[in-house]
Amino acid sequence: METAKLIFDFLGPDPTEMRQFIHDVWPENPDANVLDLASGNGDHLFGFIDKPVASVTVVDNSEEALRLLLERHSNHKQLISPICADLGTWACDRKYDVVHMGDNSIQMFASYKDQFNIIKTMASCLSDKGFGLLNVTPVTERQIMEYCVEPKRITTVKNGGETVEVFGQIKVDVFNQDLIMYFSISRDGIEEGRSTCRCRMLLKHEIEEMVKAAGLKVVQVRHRKLKRGNDSYYYLLQLNQ
Ligand SMILES: C[S@@+](CC[C@H](N)C(=O)[O-])C[C@H]1O[C@@H](n2cnc3c(N)ncnc32)[C@H](O)[C@@H]1O
Repeated sequence: METAKLIFDFLGPDPTEMRQFIHDVWPENPDANVLDLASGNGDHLFGFIDKPVASVTVVDNSEEALRLLLERHSNHKQLISPICADLGTWACDRKYDVVHMGDNSIQMFASYKDQFNIIKTMASCLSDKGFGLLNVTPVTERQIMEYCVEPKRITTVKNGGETVEVFGQIKVDVFNQDLIMYFSISRDGIEEGRSTCRCRMLLKHEIEEMVKAAGLKVVQVRHRKLKRGNDSYYYLLQLNQ
């Protein structure tokens, strides 16, 4: 089982629900050249790839995720251009009509500076009338309390005669706004792997500060209460000109 998949599923929003959310907030434009930042394996791309768009450029630093994305969206492959790059250093050399960063990915960038750099990248890639779509889905207090205590079983997979169990735990450092997720995988009761994912919990007022400092403005904030209890937000951004 892929670690990225577990991280995605652990406290993250349900992909089907989020696809619908993206679908609903999508700024319709059949001529749009779209940029999807931290696209992953394309789960959330299902939220808009069936919309009429001119092209979709996807950027992620995982070759494996991009390979999967192209495989899953092979029926749209003429529309999709993949770029394997680290968004911390990637410089965009053209303008896009829609720049999307979904799935709370911004919180996977572990410092204020890194998160601000992503917003600046969004601004630098946007065309004059283009829209930035930024999703933030904070974890709930209940999730923090529930997962902070001790490792909790996230899933059990029975494969032939084998039982694979995945455990997760989170630790929160409120002063640094850090949320660290720990995972361990056991096969037939024997631990065989561990991994960690560090997130920085982005606060609402910080989003507004960063957006403004990057030369953008919040045009609208769309909200959806997810089944899992989380509040998910899409910020619709435009250049402040
Ligand atoms: C929460 S996942 C997004 C999953 C995606 N929305 C999907 O539909 O599958 C975050 C993604 O950010 C990517 N990522 C993390 N740090 C990155 C970086 N520095 N540069 C580029 N991509 C990065 C990971 O590889 C991962 O695919």
